[in-house]
Amino acid sequence: MAGKRRVALVTGGTGGIGRETCRQLAAAGLRVVAADLPGDDARQQDFALAMQGHDVSFVAMDVTDPAGCERAIAAISASHGPVDVLVNGAGITRDAVLRKMSRDQWDQVLSVNLDSVFTLCKLLAEGMCERGYGRIVNISSVNGQTGQFGQTNYAAAKAGMHGFTMALAREVARKGVTVNSVSPGYIRTAMTAAIPEDVKQQVLAMVPTGRIGEAADVARAVVFLCHEDAGYLTGVNLPVNGGLFISF
Ligand code: CAA
Repeated sequence: MAGKRRVALVTGGTGGIGRETCRQLAAAGLRVVAADLPGDDARQQDFALAMQGHDVSFVAMDVTDPAGCERAIAAISASHGPVDVLVNGAGITRDAVLRKMSRDQWDQVLSVNLDSVFTLCKLLAEGMCERGYGRIVNISSVNGQTGQFGQTNYAAAKAGMHGFTMALAREVARKGVTVNSVSPGYIRTAMTAAIPEDVKQQVLAMVPTGRIGEAADVARAVVFLCHEDAGYLTGVNLPVNGGLFISF
């Protein structure tokens, strides 16, 4: 990568997919900032250990707090310079059938998974447009394409990310900024570890590649879309689901 090294911000940066994305972006030569809730000391140490030898720093950020996001981004701009690459990876599940889903379970998932994409893009897209370069990748989900039993909240948020991606891609395309989605299937993370074992086995039986995905599989797709040379790729969704949902 010639000239100034690009700066990448990854929300949900210490989670399963997030940390592998940070590692691979750094390995590709970017200066990476992982944004996440502070977590406990053990999690922080574990993250620091996993990032050893890579240019990845950490910033505490609650993506549901727009003012806090703004402060964190100001701090990143001061320490690293403007953010060129944004990966919206922060995501949670609060699974329940609609009949049992509380308003709070709905609000939490929409706030972390979808409202945060508005917040971060609003804070960063304008600067990217002014500088004539940007890469935005929204981590959605296969369940935002197909729906999933017990996930009206999550599927709505993840499908919402696709609409957001397509609309913003059109708005900023002329300014050198691309906006894309990556839709993971079932990936080995803490999120999927929490799925009841019988449900997990049912889902895995439907994956043509015959295995659960790894965070590295997803990160590879993110890095591809974040590449300097990927400027003609915008408004697309890149599924990384082992063939669980095949469509054109
Ligand atoms: N399809 C059809 N019926 C189902 C079903 C399914 N997938 N899952 C459960 N049911 C049925 C049950 O058999 C049961 O039927 P009966 O009432 O006739 O007995 C009924 O629905 C209620 O099921 P439960 O008793 O299990 O209800 P619950 O409230 O205890 O739990 C649930 C429901 C929360 C949805 C639970 O089944 C669950 O956690 N499922 C996993 C959901 C899932 O796959 N989440 C993905 C998380 S990972 C992720 O989201 C990452 C990503 O992006 C891919």
